[in-house]
Amino acid sequence: MTQKIEPVYFDSSIEPLDPASVHQVELSSGRMMPVAAFGTFHSDWAQDYMKEATAEAIRLGWRHLDTARAYENEEVVGEAIRRAIREGYIASSDELFITGKLWNGHMAPKDVAPALDGTLKALGIDQIDLYLNHWPWPNVHTPGCAGDHRNPDAVPYIHEAFLETWAEIVKLKQAGKIVDIGTSNHTAATMKLLLRDVQKDERPVCNQMEMHPLMQQTELRRTFKSEGVVCTGYMSLGSPNRPARDTFKEHRADMMDRTIQAIAGELEVPPPKVCLAWAAQRMNKSGGFVAMATRSDWIRDNLSCAVDDLLSPEQVLRISGDGTPEHPGIDANNRLIWGQVFLWPEADGDWRLLWDDSQVFESREGYAKFKASWERHHRVQMETTVC
Ligand SMILES: NC(=O)c1ccc[n+]([C@@H]2O[C@H](COP(=O)([O-])OP(=O)(O)OC[C@H]3O[C@@H](n4cnc5c(N)ncnc54)[C@H](OP(=O)(O)O)[C@@H]3O)[C@@H](O)[C@H]2O)c1
Repeated sequence: MTQKIEPVYFDSSIEPLDPASVHQVELSSGRMMPVAAFGTFHSDWAQDYMKEATAEAIRLGWRHLDTARAYENEEVVGEAIRRAIREGYIASSDELFITGKLWNGHMAPKDVAPALDGTLKALGIDQIDLYLNHWPWPNVHTPGCAGDHRNPDAVPYIHEAFLETWAEIVKLKQAGKIVDIGTSNHTAATMKLLLRDVQKDERPVCNQMEMHPLMQQTELRRTFKSEGVVCTGYMSLGSPNRPARDTFKEHRADMMDRTIQAIAGELEVPPPKVCLAWAAQRMNKSGGFVAMATRSDWIRDNLSCAVDDLLSPEQVLRISGDGTPEHPGIDANNRLIWGQVFLWPEADGDWRLLWDDSQVFESREGYAKFKASWERHHRVQMETTVC
């Protein structure tokens, strides 16, 4: 059940920004992508407002929408797009850059094409600009599940299976239903395997991953960038209203960080603008960000971070650091998405295995052998445990 938190504040007197002034990044396909993507994941409570918020984002100048089947609101986003056309904010959906995502439950090869068809129909478009594989394995959780939910059928990354899914995505690109293809939540090892085994025109142009000032992922981003994969950061503001299942006492709030607050004070802007400006400007403006908001002033403010260079190079350096004692930066490896609801049994409940590449398998056979030995080991442990 969604919980309503008032007020949600849309203000038609707020002037839009010129979409042409929003910075774009070149993908390896040669196409340009607006660096600021409006997020449509509803943080549970905001679902009721996504239509208004998305239409308002288009009115205020956002042209890149980040959508996903998993957000269970593609129809709502489709309605927002139609409303934006009716209201004259855009002449047609061709003016938008739309990102969509294949959900984990649709990764079986036979399910990929019908899943994309469903997405296109719901959004009311014939072709999607960028289609990402949402997660690298087919593990599903029930919508709105609690943090301790576990799926006994969950599996780790199995490259052989992923390549079968990827081949279907490539076919849909060749059929003209997708313009560019990419990944989301890929790690160093899973990306390396993918790039090893696909042709040049089958490579992902983009990887969407968690990135914010307290979780910078600089090395991973540098590696992906060197392979021509643009990195787009989600939870760029630190996702203050994320669902309870993704909230842990170890987490820190990016907007409350002392350096972020100090820079906000120097510039006389609110801390969220510093987070997004950093996301847009860091590493020579080579990546993008996704951000969601349900208020006109925040929606516009957030987009403005991809228009002007708000931060000086010195301020970017204070946040990013450069590996020297003089400039340590503020990265704290403060991962917000632990992804524990996706864990497979052999991860032994340790969410870090989702990210550290210690259980990545080339083949189903390799995983089956590992699983058998893990189960034997567990049996021995159970039998030798003295109660
Ligand atoms: N690929 C993936 O696996 C993945 C995972 C997570 C998210 N995403 C994408 O990334 C998007 C963003 O993630 P997110 O929504 O969790 O995190 P976020 O963009 O970091 O945070 C959004 C929250 O920040 C608040 N906010 C926005 N602008 C603000 C401002 N200027 N001042 C103060 N507060 C502000 C919003 O509040 P209100 O709600 O009150 O407006 C909203 O709840 C999602 O919508 C989704 O599209 C992708």
